[in-house]
Amino acid sequence: MGKNKRNNEILRLFDLSNKIAIVTGAAGQLGGEYVLTLLSAGSRVAAFDVWLDNPKSKLKNITSERLISLKVDITDKRSIQQGLGALLSRFGNPNVLINNAAIDAPPNATEQDTGPFESYPESSWQTMMDVNLKGMFLCCQVIGGYMAKTGGGSIINISSIYGMLSPDQRIYEYKKKPFFKPAAYSVSKAGVLNLTRYLAGYWAKQNVRVNTLTLGGVFNNQDETFLKNYTSKVPLGRMAREDEYNGAILFLASDASSYMTGSNLIIDGGYSCW
Ligand SMILES: NC(=O)c1ccc[n+]([C@@H]2O[C@H](COP(=O)([O-])OP(=O)(O)OC[C@H]3O[C@@H](n4cnc5c(N)ncnc54)[C@H](O)[C@@H]3O)[C@@H](O)[C@H]2O)c1
Repeated sequence: MGKNKRNNEILRLFDLSNKIAIVTGAAGQLGGEYVLTLLSAGSRVAAFDVWLDNPKSKLKNITSERLISLKVDITDKRSIQQGLGALLSRFGNPNVLINNAAIDAPPNATEQDTGPFESYPESSWQTMMDVNLKGMFLCCQVIGGYMAKTGGGSIINISSIYGMLSPDQRIYEYKKKPFFKPAAYSVSKAGVLNLTRYLAGYWAKQNVRVNTLTLGGVFNNQDETFLKNYTSKVPLGRMAREDEYNGAILFLASDASSYMTGSNLIIDGGYSCW
């Protein structure tokens, strides 16, 4: 094969112009990056979020004929079905789903929400599980189920290093009030790993690939002591920039990852290597 022909074919592996993608949590810090990455590679994209008006959304000033923004609450099956319906009438059958929406300590976190395990509120546990796990389950059921009926696709489930490893609570010890990364976040993100494996096996014959993308912490103007404590645990010595997961999204969404399913791609600056 000629060198130019091979070069063109390699680049074509990452071309998304035949893709119709859904990104949940698209108005958040990383979801916006993923939407812009998919658009740049030629995909049509439905941006789902329960809070589209987030003033920090990267999609606020983006107008593209290949982008549709839809208010969808992933904890509500009907809302997901309506979002899918709107996407179908605008673009057609989806073949990429990025399950990115999640909550950590809720926005209105009380002291108890980040307090000791022994007094962690049952209602906060439920809220976290509803969004991070039930929401992902419902998106897989509705959108992944549709993909399984219509030719297949790629599902990318977003997890965290705290879904593989326990948070090291010592990095928060400097805070004035006792602060603990909640167990509910870790447990919900651990559940993502096996939902991925389960569905990879379940939908293999229908050509739906399902993988987890596990992320390390992203720089977001955290205070200096936190940065020092966290980055001392990272071989690369820093938090991720918010654009450093885009290459993995392109890989997992595209045919470049055609032989990959049921896997967990870990990108954490080396956090989990020692
Ligand atoms: N930022 C990090 O350091 C980091 C590290 C590891 C993993 N992650 C994971 O990456 C993903 C994105 O994180 P982020 O930092 O961009 O978070 P973010 O809070 O900036 O964005 C999350 C988005 O999800 C949306 N959302 C919340 N509940 C929803 C619901 N019920 N229905 C629809 N949308 C809903 C929010 O409105 C928000 O726009 C999450 O799964 C998170 O666990 C983030």
